[in-house]
Amino acid sequence: MGKDGPGAGAEGSTRAVKPPPDRLYGRSRGHKLRPRQEVLLDVTLERLRFRTEDAGAPAWLPELWIEIGFGGGEHALAQATTHPNAGLIACEVFENGICSLLARLVPEGGEATAPLPANLKLWPDDGRVLLRLLPDTCVDRLFLLFPDPWPKMRHAKRRFVHPDLVPEVARVLKPGATWRVASDDPTYQAWVTEVMGAQTAFSVAEPAVQRPEGWPATRYEAKALQAGRRPMYWVFTRR
Ligand SMILES: C[S@@+](CC[C@H](N)C(=O)[O-])C[C@H]1O[C@@H](n2cnc3c(N)ncnc32)[C@H](O)[C@@H]1O
Repeated sequence: MGKDGPGAGAEGSTRAVKPPPDRLYGRSRGHKLRPRQEVLLDVTLERLRFRTEDAGAPAWLPELWIEIGFGGGEHALAQATTHPNAGLIACEVFENGICSLLARLVPEGGEATAPLPANLKLWPDDGRVLLRLLPDTCVDRLFLLFPDPWPKMRHAKRRFVHPDLVPEVARVLKPGATWRVASDDPTYQAWVTEVMGAQTAFSVAEPAVQRPEGWPATRYEAKALQAGRRPMYWVFTRR
């Protein structure tokens, strides 16, 4: 990532920020894919893909959960394993991350045939696009764990927590549904506090500074802790 990438330099204020574009920044492809990764994307991903035509009636289990930016998939897989009654749609744009999750699910040679979790589907695309396709009040839980911080103010429009996207998140969540957000970046932490403090669709509790029970750890979080950064963990409840 270059010096202007999501991990760079500082500051934030929600005032005078342009609306988020329907455009992705950051990487969607890293190093060249290995043959096994190509098969995972061509074959296994197709078996798990959440299809656009299902977006009008998206729930296939008693609860519908969504994770935005699952990274290597540690959290998504742990949640899917411990909550069989929740159908989780996990979104990620970075191909190597998608391969990482798929590689944990199927052994080599089992890409087309190995059993897959019945409560997990993948959206290998921008999570904002998925949200816009969904009907009102259909989601029980939304996870946004360690989103790219885009710490420079001129990149604030790229942040997922954004005054223009909060109404869209509120629209798809059921009353009483929860939105979990975690961040280790001080600029993003201040930004979340400001953005969520200025809206009325969610009730806002004080963030925890230790990972709460029932929040499986992620790879990014482990790196942040190792580097001495201090994550905050919020739960926003849809009114
Ligand atoms: C800093 S990483 C954190 C990954 C993971 N949640 C973790 O904690 O290890 C943020 C991830 O969000 C993904 N991402 C960013 N914007 C996204 C979007 N609009 N839709 C889906 N994924 C997105 C990036 O590709 C990246 O893998």
